[in-house]
Amino acid sequence: MKAIVYESNTGFTKQYAEMLSAKTGLPLYARTDANNQLAPKTDILYLGWLSAGAVHGYTKAAKRFHICGIIGVGLQDPTEDSVKELRARNHIDQIPVFYLQGGLDCGKLNFLQRRLMNMMRKIVTKSLASKPELTRQELQHLQILEHGGSYVKVENLNPVLRWMETSS
Ligand SMILES: Cc1cc2nc3c(=O)[nH]c(=O)nc-3n(C[C@H](O)[C@H](O)[C@H](O)COP(=O)(O)O)c2cc1C
Repeated sequence: MKAIVYESNTGFTKQYAEMLSAKTGLPLYARTDANNQLAPKTDILYLGWLSAGAVHGYTKAAKRFHICGIIGVGLQDPTEDSVKELRARNHIDQIPVFYLQGGLDCGKLNFLQRRLMNMMRKIVTKSLASKPELTRQELQHLQILEHGGSYVKVENLNPVLRWMETSS
C-alpha cells in the first residue's frame, strides 16, 4: 500500500483518514488531489462517505488507482451485515471492505442533504417509537440524528490496522 485516498463531505471520513495516515505513516490525499499527485495504478486504501449506501468516489478512484482496501463511513450502527450490504450496493467482490461509523454535522450539509437527513430521522424515530424501552445505543443515535454528533474513535480503526499489518 502506497497511499491513503479519501472523499469526505462533512469531515468525519477525513478524520479517520488522517488517523490512519498518522498511525501508518502513509501519505494522505483527498480523491480530487490524488488524481494529480499520484501515479495511475498506485496501490491505495480508499475511504469514502456513504450516501444511499454508495461509497462516494469509489468508482472514480477504482478507474485510476489499484484499490487494495475500502472503508465506507456512514451513520448507521455497524451490524454483521454492514460489510455484506456495502459489497452488494457497490459491486465489490474481492477487495477487503470495512464499515466505520462517522457522524452527523447538519451545519455542513447542503439543502437537499439536510432534507434527506430529516426524512431519515423521521423514519428512525417512528420505527423506535413503538419500542417500550430504548437501549443506550438507540438513545445516542436519536440524539445524534436530532442534534448532530460524532462516533469517530481511534479504536474503531483496530480491525483496519490489523488487516494492514498482515497484508503488507
Ligand atoms: C444525503 C445523505 C445520505 C446518507 N446515506 C447514508 C447511508 O446510506 N448509510 C449510512 O450509514 N449513512 C448515510 N449517511 C450518513 C453519512 O454517511 C455520515 O454522516 C458520514 O459520517 C458522513 O461522512 P463525512 O463527514 O466524511 O462526509 C447519509 C448522509 C447524507 C447527508
